[in-house]
Amino acid sequence: VSAPRRRGGPAQWSNQLRLTARLYEPLWRRRSIAILTRGSFTTERELALMQRRLALTPGAHVIDLGCSAGLYARTLARAGAQVTALDVSAAFLREGERLAAIEGVAVRFVRHDVHALPFADSSVDAAVSGGSLNEFLDPRAVLRETARVLREGAPLWLMYVAAAERWPGRVLQALLRLSGLGFPTSAEVDAWAIEAGLQPERSERRGPLVFASYRRGSGIAPVAATSPSPGWDRPAIRRRRFNWERRHSS
Ligand SMILES: C[S@@+](CC[C@H](N)C(=O)[O-])C[C@H]1O[C@@H](n2cnc3c(N)ncnc32)[C@H](O)[C@@H]1O
Repeated sequence: VSAPRRRGGPAQWSNQLRLTARLYEPLWRRRSIAILTRGSFTTERELALMQRRLALTPGAHVIDLGCSAGLYARTLARAGAQVTALDVSAAFLREGERLAAIEGVAVRFVRHDVHALPFADSSVDAAVSGGSLNEFLDPRAVLRETARVLREGAPLWLMYVAAAERWPGRVLQALLRLSGLGFPTSAEVDAWAIEAGLQPERSERRGPLVFASYRRGSGIAPVAATSPSPGWDRPAIRRRRFNWERRHSS
């Protein structure tokens, strides 16, 4: 499965700016899920789905890979996890600390490149990454590192923008690639994960977004995907249009 290391660009550089760090979550992150799924999914539903998929026990050590201001990290810490949130941007880490202090949640924010994680083998209870896979220069290597540090049976939650299937999206993504972003197909991400020792569990595609969970270990049978719970989705006409739910058979 080929995945050459990409070159960084404005997408990566702009993360170092204080203004980006300050505005990212209120102006984009909190709205982006609804915008990209044309209103059929929201950030609140994303966070609830992540927590359901992770099914963490209190005190579990979770790492947030490419945390930005730590939306996932703060959410999981509030629910009782011990979270280490990693990012290369000092500006984003400071913003994460600021928001965590306002919200009264404890998150350990650490400046570190997630291509080489500062954790021992099999020492972490869960990992999450929201939207950052599109920014990592070698996502395949990050998945390998993640698999290395996760305990046997530990879950990984990923949200990312997948390669567009239709031409308007392809054109837009071709332009965004020039800024340093990458848009893998979900088949590529699953193949990198399997190669790393992470078994795909469930995956849902909503518009260009993929919400996927994996589990560390080679001998774990994949859990069948189920239809979205009642109340998650829009009426059937929307569901037919996107045909999002996908089942992994391997
Ligand atoms: C799209 S944002 C992530 C948003 C965040 N996960 C959330 O859910 O709100 C991508 C983040 O990944 C970080 N990042 C990119 N490459 C990284 C790397 N190699 N190591 C650590 N963080 C990285 C960027 O600094 C940026 O904050």
